[in-house]
Amino acid sequence: MITGFQCGSPFNTETVTGKFRRGEGKIPYLKKEGRAKFSYRLEKEDVVYGLGENVRGINKRGWIYESFNTDNCYHREDTKSLYGAHNFLIIDGKEQFGIFFDYPGRITFDIGYSDPDLLKIELQDEDFGLYVIGTDAHKTCGYSAMEDIVRQFRRLIGRSYIPPKWAFGYGQSRWGYLNEADVRDVAEGYRNAGIGLDMVYLDIDYMERYKDFTVNREAYPDFAGLVSDMKKSGVHLVPIIDAAIKVESGYDVYEEGAANDYFCKDEEGNDYIAGAWPGRVVLPDVLNDKVRRWFGQKYKILIDMGIEGFWNDMNEPSIFFSEKYLAEVFRKLDKFRDENLDLEKFGEFGELVGKISNNPVYYKEFYHRTDSGVCLHEQVHNLYGYNLTRAAGEAFEELCPNHRILIFSRSSCIGMHRYGGIWTGDNQSFWEHLLMNMKMMPSLNMCGFLYTGADLGGFGSDTTQDLLMRWLAFGVFTPLMRNHSSIGTRRQEAYQFPGAAEIGNIIQLRYILLPYIYSEYVKAALGDDMYMKPLAFVYPEDDFAKEVEDQLMVGESIMIAPVYRQNAGGRYVYLPERMLMVRYQSPKQMQKEIVEKGHHYVEIGLKEVVFFILPDHLVPISSGGSCVEQIDFENLRIMGFVETYAEYKLYDDDGYTRDYDNPRCFTQIRAAKGKKLVWEGEKNSIEYFEF
Ligand code: GLC
Repeated sequence: MITGFQCGSPFNTETVTGKFRRGEGKIPYLKKEGRAKFSYRLEKEDVVYGLGENVRGINKRGWIYESFNTDNCYHREDTKSLYGAHNFLIIDGKEQFGIFFDYPGRITFDIGYSDPDLLKIELQDEDFGLYVIGTDAHKTCGYSAMEDIVRQFRRLIGRSYIPPKWAFGYGQSRWGYLNEADVRDVAEGYRNAGIGLDMVYLDIDYMERYKDFTVNREAYPDFAGLVSDMKKSGVHLVPIIDAAIKVESGYDVYEEGAANDYFCKDEEGNDYIAGAWPGRVVLPDVLNDKVRRWFGQKYKILIDMGIEGFWNDMNEPSIFFSEKYLAEVFRKLDKFRDENLDLEKFGEFGELVGKISNNPVYYKEFYHRTDSGVCLHEQVHNLYGYNLTRAAGEAFEELCPNHRILIFSRSSCIGMHRYGGIWTGDNQSFWEHLLMNMKMMPSLNMCGFLYTGADLGGFGSDTTQDLLMRWLAFGVFTPLMRNHSSIGTRRQEAYQFPGAAEIGNIIQLRYILLPYIYSEYVKAALGDDMYMKPLAFVYPEDDFAKEVEDQLMVGESIMIAPVYRQNAGGRYVYLPERMLMVRYQSPKQMQKEIVEKGHHYVEIGLKEVVFFILPDHLVPISSGGSCVEQIDFENLRIMGFVETYAEYKLYDDDGYTRDYDNPRCFTQIRAAKGKKLVWEGEKNSIEYFEF
C-alpha cells in the first residue's frame, strides 16, 4: 500500500506514473522535525536499503549521503554524492517500509552518521512529494517483505527500460580510439583472439572537435560504411553524446538552438556559457518539452548512418568552468604574481585554481524555462541527466517504433529508468571499486535501474590482468558488460594481455548464460522485480544472510560469490541452503558439486568463474557464440539442480521489437528428477546439460 503526500507545491518531476492513495495529515513512521526535515529512530537490528548509486554497503547505515548529481571520478568511501540521485530507502526491522522523496534538489540522508541510532533526512526546500510504502507481504506470500516493497515502488514509477538483445553482449570501449583504423583494430584484435564481442563504443574522439551529432570526416571518411561493415561482423558501434553544445557559428546544432532560445539562460537572460570538452559551450534546456523534442530528434543524424545505440555523458551537467567564474579567476590570479606564496597564500592560490572544475556555484548561475515556470538550475539539478536521456528515449520511440535502441546515461534520477540504463560513471582500476560495483548493483535495481554495470577493469588508473579477470568474472552477470578505460591509462582490451585465452573463456561464459540473463532481465523489468538481489531479500528469515554484502542473487536460480581481492586463491562463501556449485573454466571444462548449507572456503582460480544454482531451479544456457546474433536461442540446454521437481518460465523474443507481453515470448520448462525434461512453447529443442 502506497500513501503519497504532497508537501508545499512540488515541482512536477514526472517520475510517478502509478497509483497511490493520497495521504493527508500525519506521515506514518517518520517524525517531522521541521518543514523539510524528518527523522526515524533506528533499532539496533534495523537494516536500511536503497539509495541506488552510492558508495559503501548494501546496508546504508553508518554514513551521510547527499542526493546531488556529481561528476566525481575519484570517489572513495567518504564520498557523499555520485552521478545519480536515487531517493528511495527501505527500512527492514520490526517495522518494514519504503520511502521515496520525489524531489529534484539537494537532499541529505544521514543514516546513523550524526547519531548511530537516528535516520535524519533533510531537503533543501519545502516543496516535495513523499511516498510511504507499507507491506503486508506475509499475508500475500510468495515474496519477501523487501521484495514486496520494491515491487510496489517500481509499479509506482513505471516499467524499467529494456534494451535490444545485442546490448547484453560484451562491449569494448576506450577514450582514445582516434579513427577508423583504431576501431577496426579493436574488432580485429578480439576476432583474432577468438573472443566474443558485440559492441565497440565510440568516445568523444569520433566527433569533429567534440561537437555532438557530428563525425570527424578525416578520421572517419566513410562512417556509415564502417558502421555497416562492423554490423556485418556482429559488432555495433555505440557513439557517445555529451550534454553540452559547442558555441561556434556555422555549427547547425548550436545555431538552431541559439536562434530558438533552446539553451539555459543566465541571470540576464543571455545564453549561459560554460566550459566542457569543446571549450565554450551552452546547455540545452531539456527540462523544457520543446527543447527535449528538438534535442531528441538530433539522434536521427547518427541513426541515419546506421547507429543503433548511444551513451549520454557529462549530463550532471559536468561543467569545467563558467565564463563568469573564469573571468574572476583570471582577474584574481594576477594578484598572486608578485606575492610570496607562503602557506596561507599558496593555499588561497590553490583554492582559486583547484576549484574551477565542477564548482557547485555554477548551478546557481543558470536557469531553466520549464512548463511550471522559470527555475534556478540548482533547485532542479538532479533532473538534468534524466531529461537529456528522456529526450533520446522519447525520440527513439518515434523514430524507430519497431526497433529498440540502446541508450544509457551517466547521470540519472529515478524516473529516467523508464527511458534508458546507466553506467556507474568513472571509477578507478581499484579492487575496492570492484567490491563497490557489487554492492551498488542491487541498490540500483531497487530504484528501477536494471540495465546497468560499471566500467569493467576500471576507467582511471592502470589495470592489471588479474583485476580485469576478476572484474569480468563479476561482469558476466551484470546486464551492461562493458570494458572501458581512460585515455592515458594502460590499454585493457582483453586481447592485450598474456592471458587473453583465459580472459576470452570468462567472456564466453556470458554468451553461454545469455538465454538465462536475458530471460531474467526482461522478466524482472516486466514484473517490476529486481534482477540482482541481496541474499536477505530471498532468505529473510536467515539472520546471517542479512550481513552478506559480497554475494548476490542473480535472477531466480543463481547465487554468485565473486572474488574481489588481489592474489586471493578463493574466498569464504555463505550458502543459506544446499546448492549446486558450478565451476567453469572454459566451455569444455565445467564441473559440478553439491555444497551443503553453511560456510565454506571455496577455491576459485583466476581462470575460473564459480556460481551456485539453487535447489530445484533451472538455468537455460546456449552453446555460446562470438556475438549475440550467433547464439542459437532455439536449441537450448538446461543446467539445473533438480532434487525433486523444478519449473522455469523462460522469456525470449526477437530481441528488437517491443512486443514484450506477447504470450509467445514465454516457454514453460519442467524437470522432474529422473524424468525427461518437457516444455511448452516454441523452442526447437531443450535438453538437459550433463557435465
Ligand atoms: C567522462 C566519461 C568517460 C569518458 C570521458 C571522455 O569522463 O565518464 O566515460 O570516457 O568522459 O568522453
